[in-house]
Amino acid sequence: MQQRLLQHLSLFHFLVLAVDPSVPETGRRGAAASSPPSPPAHSAAAGCEVPPSHRFDCGAERLLAREGCEARGCCYAPAASGAGGGPPWCFFPRGYRSYRAENLTATARGYAARLRRVAPSFLPGDVGVLRLDVALETESRLRFTLRDPARQRYEVPLATPRVSARAASTLYGVQVHEDPFGLVVSRRPGGQVLLNTTVAPLFFADQFLQISTSLPSRFISGLGEHLAPLVLDTAWTKVTLWNRDMAPVPQVNLYGSHPFYLVIEDGGSAHGVFLLNSNAMDVVLQPSPALTWRTTGGILDFYVFLGPDPKSVVRQYLDVVGFPFMPPYWGLGFHLCRWGYSSTTTTRQAVANMSAARFPLDVQWNDLDYMDAKRDFTFNKETFKDYPDMVRDFHQRGLRYVMIVDPGISSSGPPGTYKPYDDGLKRGVAASLLQVWPGPTAFPDFTNPETHEWWHDMVKDFHDQVPFDGMWIDMNEPSNFVEGSQDGCPNNSLEKPPYVPGVFGGRLQAGTICASSQQYLSSHYNLHSLYGLTEAIGCSRWRPFVISRSTFSGHGRYAGHWTGDVESNWEQLSYSVPEVLLFNLLGVPLVGADICGFLGDTSEELCVRWTQLGAFYPFMRNHNDHGNRPQEPYAFSPAAQDAMRKALRLRYSLLPYLYTLFHRAHTAGETVARPLFLEFPKDPNTWTVDRQLLWGGGLLVTPVLEAGQTKVSGYFPAGTWYSLVGVGAAAGLPGAATPFLRPDSTIHSKGQWVLLPAPLDTINVHVRAGHVLPLQEPAFSTAESRKKGMALVVALTPDGFARGELFWDDGESWQSFEKGDYTETLFLAAHVSVGGGHLDGILLEAVTILGVTSPPRQVLANGARVDDFSYCSDTQVLSVPVSLPMWEQFVITWS
Ligand SMILES: *[C@@H]1O[C@H](CO)[C@@H](O)[C@H](O)[C@H]1NC(C)=O
Ligand SMILES: *[C@@H]1O[C@H](CO)[C@@H](O)[C@H](O)[C@H]1NC(C)=O
Ligand SMILES: *[C@@H]1O[C@H](CO)[C@@H](O)[C@H](O)[C@H]1NC(C)=O
Ligand SMILES: *[C@@H]1O[C@H](CO)[C@@H](O)[C@H](O)[C@H]1NC(C)=O
Repeated sequence: MQQRLLQHLSLFHFLVLAVDPSVPETGRRGAAASSPPSPPAHSAAAGCEVPPSHRFDCGAERLLAREGCEARGCCYAPAASGAGGGPPWCFFPRGYRSYRAENLTATARGYAARLRRVAPSFLPGDVGVLRLDVALETESRLRFTLRDPARQRYEVPLATPRVSARAASTLYGVQVHEDPFGLVVSRRPGGQVLLNTTVAPLFFADQFLQISTSLPSRFISGLGEHLAPLVLDTAWTKVTLWNRDMAPVPQVNLYGSHPFYLVIEDGGSAHGVFLLNSNAMDVVLQPSPALTWRTTGGILDFYVFLGPDPKSVVRQYLDVVGFPFMPPYWGLGFHLCRWGYSSTTTTRQAVANMSAARFPLDVQWNDLDYMDAKRDFTFNKETFKDYPDMVRDFHQRGLRYVMIVDPGISSSGPPGTYKPYDDGLKRGVAASLLQVWPGPTAFPDFTNPETHEWWHDMVKDFHDQVPFDGMWIDMNEPSNFVEGSQDGCPNNSLEKPPYVPGVFGGRLQAGTICASSQQYLSSHYNLHSLYGLTEAIGCSRWRPFVISRSTFSGHGRYAGHWTGDVESNWEQLSYSVPEVLLFNLLGVPLVGADICGFLGDTSEELCVRWTQLGAFYPFMRNHNDHGNRPQEPYAFSPAAQDAMRKALRLRYSLLPYLYTLFHRAHTAGETVARPLFLEFPKDPNTWTVDRQLLWGGGLLVTPVLEAGQTKVSGYFPAGTWYSLVGVGAAAGLPGAATPFLRPDSTIHSKGQWVLLPAPLDTINVHVRAGHVLPLQEPAFSTAESRKKGMALVVALTPDGFARGELFWDDGESWQSFEKGDYTETLFLAAHVSVGGGHLDGILLEAVTILGVTSPPRQVLANGARVDDFSYCSDTQVLSVPVSLPMWEQFVITWS
């Protein structure tokens, strides 16, 4: 293989390393140049000694026998196929030529080159000349694009940062390999190769773009949305991205597309890669390890994020696609929904039953039941006659209300009978006429600015009647109950591309609208996977609380996500942990699965365990399908209800901490629920843990995910972990928010698996030494709990240190941070300081300090003696009842 470099970018950007123009052209060719210099350049025999794990598929778009394979200049070797499909039988020989790089020049942002195809590929619509642009956007972010310089092709309309000058220094070096063309990105210092695209040929045809790279390790995560472990399997896994209404099962394209991955390298450094492309694509992982992107349109537009730690990779990705929106405080409370609350009477009953059973509830929802003939922006004038009053009554009780909205607008009634359709038709906003719920349906085209105006008007009209608080946008893949349309789809290359990724159903139009439907910005073929995102943008303009099923990169800036139509079974319960973690890595922290499961009957034990875990989903909603056994918390035995109540009280106690984490996500690109590897990247044991989750850096949750278990094994990275097993009014202390701690089970870990007791009424939650968590006394809604007393849990490290923070605002106003209308409080070990006015009237009632090694003789709160503190030397817990105004500065000391 040729090792000549066109250029090696160093700290000082030696752009003078460009090709010496005096060298004759043939002299600059790579290894394949030893075969005849002009096309056909491929010889089937040469370069075929490739180990199976390193073989790249030469027959991706069609099955080839030896003859057809060799006609492409490829190697043929039948191999045993494993579970994931195994190595390809027809593969590229080493040095297979596709494009060669020439005319490298410096640009303001980096450099550019021309790529010329040396021989036609076997695909229709080869783009013969490409332009490569490499932009050194920031110290840790590299962008490179491959475009057709002769023709504007579709590009994803995502607003990404504009950079006009190159970074002064970089954590990466880039090399361009001339022929065959390839790009190598390596980490500096150290030289670890992160990307090497010379491992297989580049393809850039009209509907088939393919680029491969080696990976520095097998620890790769991302590429949602799929039902899969957090770390993907590199043993020949094909990951398909094409948004699809599909009850989650493994190995199938689901509701969202996020062409971003994160890799942890040996030693715990991490990098990320984002391909900004929205076309139907496959991403193939193979054991060498390597990865192939194979997409059906658009351009190749890559971002590489250098970290060097995994948290930074996530933030760098979010710098490009957008930081998450800040949800209202009530959005973090408990949500209750089901398809089958068939009237206002039933819906009101659900609320009344929750209240009678003394369960907290913040948001009541309705599924399709409220609609008149399943049409958006209508309500059933019989069963939901008093619908507006019901919503107003909920508001009176401090509750909020959210209802489902589908994107499809019914077109079945006579003209003049349904304003959204008549109006939409007039304003030309329909993408297509199709079949979903209400019969013939038009899909609004949210890439058209006029659609946003029309949608906004429809939403506002409806809100004037029914004062809802948020929108639940479903079916927006978009989902269609006929394939394509009632008249099928046209016969053209968008409906039948030369390569169809591994989409469920085998055709792009399966379960959705025709790929060649024309939208305002481009064809549906290009825009399909953006449907949910563009709709979410349209809805977020109206309300700051939107939960969507279909997502694309950048979604978290506008809305949250629930994981769709999950089955009520243990397998789906356990898969919900990696899915929630993954969406946090993808910048959609407001995420959760339907608690107790959506499809099929739940069981009491499953529902208890699911509620316990669900109390730690950033978005906590119990939602049930129609016809199933009821699964509201009050529908179970007293013992099960007690366990659920305990989990809910724990969540409500922790809401000030959770809200503060969302603030950090919104303003600093952090995650809310996070995998252990984000906090402990140097500990390889954490890399694959996806049955536990952290809230921020300070709280580790170890749920039971299997039936019939009363113990659970969890991984505890090195350090001290204090058990926080429940909340309640612990004896002798004011403020029910005082956590009931079980310091007897404090874990001093060296980095080890620990078997924990986990009876049915318990979820294991541990506070990490070094953190201060702000808590508040739980209540039956956040409207109430926000007025209660607060408490601090101070978990000291062995050297007596802890820190934490609290973000507080009115919980409701849009962009309070941006407007400066908030209070932020930093807690430092024994020093607690406060400023700002948003905590007026709230008292700090208890401080619990963990890890106090010797009994204090004296405790002072603002200089005054506290006589009724208690200390337990067995547990090393110091409990200090106080009554201090949170809106003033205070200091608590012990000595
Ligand atoms: C690009 O490179 C080729 C081959 O080296 C050369 O013939 C051609 O003149 C160059 N074009 C430009 C615009 O520099
Ligand atoms: C990139 O991959 C090619 C092909 O496998 C290999 O020959 C070359 O050594 C690699 N380059 C680096 C810098 O690792
Ligand atoms: C509320 O509780 C009553 C009494 O147990 C029950 O009959 C009714 O079905 C419940 N309603 C809902 C919506 O769960
Ligand atoms: C679709 O178009 C292709 C190419 O134009 C043609 O060969 C094929 O017969 C057409 N199929 C149908 C079902 O009309």
